[in-house]
Amino acid sequence: MKRKHSGTGRVDVKVMRWNPEFDDAPHWESYTVEYEPMDRILDALHQIKWYEDGSLSFRRSCGHGICGSDAMVINGVNRLACKTLIKDLKHPITVEPIRGLPVEKDLVVDMEPFFDSYKNIMPYLVNDDPSPGGERLQSPEDRERYDDTTKCILCAACTTSCPVFWSDGEYAGPAAIVNAHRFVFDSRDKAGDERLQILAQKDGAFRCRTTFNCTDACPRGIHVTRAVQEVKREILNRSI
Ligand code: FES
Repeated sequence: MKRKHSGTGRVDVKVMRWNPEFDDAPHWESYTVEYEPMDRILDALHQIKWYEDGSLSFRRSCGHGICGSDAMVINGVNRLACKTLIKDLKHPITVEPIRGLPVEKDLVVDMEPFFDSYKNIMPYLVNDDPSPGGERLQSPEDRERYDDTTKCILCAACTTSCPVFWSDGEYAGPAAIVNAHRFVFDSRDKAGDERLQILAQKDGAFRCRTTFNCTDACPRGIHVTRAVQEVKREILNRSI
């Protein structure tokens, strides 16, 4: 079955495929895809799945860079498929699952280890003080202190671009540290010390080797390495 409308261009897309039920090892499969100037890698994957091979597996939901479900390695770099234009890439294009997490099938990885690290740093506001009778207010300056790290969409592009995480899956990883940062520097939160104690442990923030892969990979433009450095410094400042 072919796409209903002809595209203005054609591109070869190589996808790393692996079905644990049938394959001994991952392997490349090639597809030729027609595309329009504003088509993204997600559109190419849809075209392959809908018109060429319905067995191709990948995650996506919003299609607009919000849900964080379609991070993958595109031409060797971690990106969101829904935010990556085909015309901006060198051809042929390669698409692989993100690295360092167990592959379940094709481009789908097991995200549980990633979310376990995220849950471990208590990614929610902790404040048991009596309610002030309304919202817990803070100044624009206090809000600005952690604004950058509120942008995380938990796509795992940062953590799965990190060589430390590739070699040691126990490392908390940049995404967990970024989300700890978001609360540690929130003037309303009371559990900063607890989070920093978790990140002061051997698999915490000091495993970071400042390679900046995480910052380069972040589709939201978060200064990930800077946030990790600020968390490290705060651990030392508070003598944790
Ligand atoms: S599909 Fe939601 S971020 Fe790409």
